[in-house]
Amino acid sequence: MDFYDAIKKRKSVRKYKSDPIPEEVLDRILEAGRIAPSAKNIQPWRFIVIKDPEIKKKVAEASRGQLWMADADVILVGCILEKIAWGHMGGYMNSGPVDLAIALDHMILAAANEGLGTCWIGAFVEQDVKNILQVPEDVRVMALTPIGYPAEEPKDRGRKAPKEIISYDKY
Ligand SMILES: Cc1cc2nc3c(=O)[nH]c(=O)nc-3n(C[C@H](O)[C@H](O)[C@H](O)COP(=O)(O)O)c2cc1C
Repeated sequence: MDFYDAIKKRKSVRKYKSDPIPEEVLDRILEAGRIAPSAKNIQPWRFIVIKDPEIKKKVAEASRGQLWMADADVILVGCILEKIAWGHMGGYMNSGPVDLAIALDHMILAAANEGLGTCWIGAFVEQDVKNILQVPEDVRVMALTPIGYPAEEPKDRGRKAPKEIISYDKY
């Protein structure tokens, strides 16, 4: 698929078929995240691939009851190793969330390229997800996404016009 077509094709999918994702397809998606850039190349991330139906259901419940997530073949959970991430981005910020977002977005776009659906999930109770997945105390859960074959064609949700968000030479 053309690179720009894959970017345009990606939309949040909230209905999934139970069809399994071939292992080599999932591996390509995970690899797209593994090779993503990160501040100082620290790679302060860990990805948990959930395939077990019971665990998927529990995590979906912990995601503020978004139970449709569990219908997807896989739920991917993105974690940040905050302590080892670069602490001085822009002179004030821990790079962990940015590093993780880049890697996860690589995976999400790779999934779109493979004809798979995803949906960035930010509505979850972190401590509940940590308990279910035995995530260590000092590791943060930042985002989740189901990955699976879409059972819906999501509509275009629209975006702000370029002139609202882009300026040249000054703010
Ligand atoms: C940080 C973040 C958190 C989000 N959390 C949720 C969520 O918990 N549940 C959900 O259904 N969609 C969630 N979304 C998806 C957005 O609603 C969606 O990306 C946006 O409406 C644009 O639609 P599109 O992805 O189809 O282009 C989230 C997206 C982002 C980037």
